[in-house]
Amino acid sequence: MARAVTGIQPSGQVHVGNWLGMIRPALTIAQDWESYFFVADWHALTSHPEPDVLRRATREIAATWLALGLDADRSTLFRQSDVPEVQELAWILGTVIPAGLLERGHAVKAARDGGREVNASTWWYPTLMAADILAYGADVVPVGADQKQHVEMARDMAIKINVRFGDDALVVPEPRVRAEVGVVPGTDGRKMSKSYGNVVPLFDTPKRTRKAIMGIVTDSLGVDEPKDPDRCTVFQLYKLLATDDEVAEMDADLRRGRGYGYGHAKEALALVMERTVAMPRECYTEWLASPARLDEILDAGARRARVAAAATLDRLRERVGLHALRRGSLG
Ligand code: ADP
Ligand code: TRP
Repeated sequence: MARAVTGIQPSGQVHVGNWLGMIRPALTIAQDWESYFFVADWHALTSHPEPDVLRRATREIAATWLALGLDADRSTLFRQSDVPEVQELAWILGTVIPAGLLERGHAVKAARDGGREVNASTWWYPTLMAADILAYGADVVPVGADQKQHVEMARDMAIKINVRFGDDALVVPEPRVRAEVGVVPGTDGRKMSKSYGNVVPLFDTPKRTRKAIMGIVTDSLGVDEPKDPDRCTVFQLYKLLATDDEVAEMDADLRRGRGYGYGHAKEALALVMERTVAMPRECYTEWLASPARLDEILDAGARRARVAAAATLDRLRERVGLHALRRGSLG
């Protein structure tokens, strides 16, 4: 069966952009594909989280996936750092990637833009991410548009390895970015992102979620003036959550103006948002209240993930001329 692999860093609150842009499409794919979804805790270390914060954030990401419908019997949910084979693969991949290319990576740019230091792990970030993808033999990698470059780097590394060591050494993956949700806008109209502080949180309190929605930046057209839905962030978000009829109605209301202002549109968005997340939010809270169960799911996932990664590494070690490793009994 074809495989899908993706990960999300446990850093900060999961937001509507993460959900619509990556998690929701990934869960749709997971209905038909063998899926490996992990919490990218090694990657999160590049920004120096407090250990307890990292541990909590890791469980929060796992709880988010489960609350949004991940079936842990069918899909493999695990912590990135529970599969040491991935680091081994990253080393091998590092031998085929020019150092200058890493310099141009998105993570390096994001760290620089955010005034954070570019430590060697930030720089190495795309290699580790490629190893995440290639270790499990991913055919597709569901991500938002901002991660496409990283997946393409993984693709290039796989091709280079295959040219040297045989076509079937690694599976060549493809990014899967859904056009309509590739860049979900945040409250200031730019891409929604933790680093821009413009997020609508996914599972925060209804009050704080509503506050974020009410803070969406609009132009200054008055209640009675006709407005262009295509230039309205509120409408762009509404489109992704509301029913077709509701969307058509807001579209018409905005265009008409006459007594329908941005405030009304925001109220409608807040309502639809609450309707959509109320149930999963309850599940999320329940999952977080059972950390032992969460850890059990993640541990079981890691055992399955290691079996898949070990198969790739056993093959690759042999191809590149390393000694066959006795891994003991995995799984
Ligand atoms: P952030 O930009 O907030 O730090 P992450 O880098 O942790 O988000 O993203 C996790 C996943 O969610 C990635 O696959 C990323 O492409 C996707 N994603 C993040 N923000 C958005 C967005 N605004 N629109 C679409 N996808 C997004
Ligand atoms: N870099 C991704 C992000 O910040 C997280 C990630 C790590 C990932 N490894 C991955 C995503 C492998 C897809 C596949 O969002």
